Amino acid sequence: MHIVILTGAGISAESGLATFRAADGLWSGHSIDDVATLKGYRKNPQHVLDFYNDRRRDVAAAEPNAAHYAIAKLQGSSHKVTLITQNVDDLHERAGSKVLHMHGSLATAICESCGHRQPATDHMSTTDHCMECGELAVRPDIVWFGEEPHYMLDIDHELRRCDLFLSIGTSGNVYPAAGFVRVAGKKARTIEFNVDRSEISSKFDVRVVGAASKTVPEWVDSFIVNPNV
Ligand code: OAD
Repeated sequence: MHIVILTGAGISAESGLATFRAADGLWSGHSIDDVATLKGYRKNPQHVLDFYNDRRRDVAAAEPNAAHYAIAKLQGSSHKVTLITQNVDDLHERAGSKVLHMHGSLATAICESCGHRQPATDHMSTTDHCMECGELAVRPDIVWFGEEPHYMLDIDHELRRCDLFLSIGTSGNVYPAAGFVRVAGKKARTIEFNVDRSEISSKFDVRVVGAASKTVPEWVDSFIVNPNV
């Protein structure tokens, strides 16, 4: 079976990483305009770099949880599994998955001058040079609001052809990811995994309510035994 999986911050919540829109989430303590837009970066680059330096430190202290491992197990099965994440952490990779980071990655930095990608340092600063062209133009490799997410052509291709679409731990507030269920759902069966209702819950054929570290491994184990359930 051809499966497309979309993950969001909720899958990493039980690894101890903050989500964005919970009452105590990242967007309650930080302004999106200040830390997640190019305009905010131009206004105060070090403030934005420090925000992502803090996220990088949190991720370094976190470990993948049972939901990340269950997805890696599914990818290692006989099914074709395309994993897309909105998350900028590396917990899927550390669990053994191959993953498309549509919103970028904390692990890399990108040069605004020549486009070169290089490993992000723990303490990115405005004095960082591009290792390729030498310019002082290195920014976090994060897709900010107003910027085009990565891999959209490939993702659209997969969504239109898959048989099954899973969405795990995302609130459905941010497009284009929030629209994936509509594209995939023209052909595929769609299942949402979330502790709560999301903005797009009504678009799914099936909802699995509960913490991802429990619901996802249970679902994967039963799906591997019987893909027709
Ligand atoms: P949100 O913080 O908007 O939503 C997290 C979702 O995870 C919510 O629907 C929660 O109910 C759910 N959740 C929390 N804990 C869970 C658990 N243990 N098991 C299952 N579900 C759980 O995060 P995202 O939807 O990922 O983009 O946010 C999308 C994008 O908005 C992010 O990639 C980021 C942000 O702005 C950029 O910064 C560009």
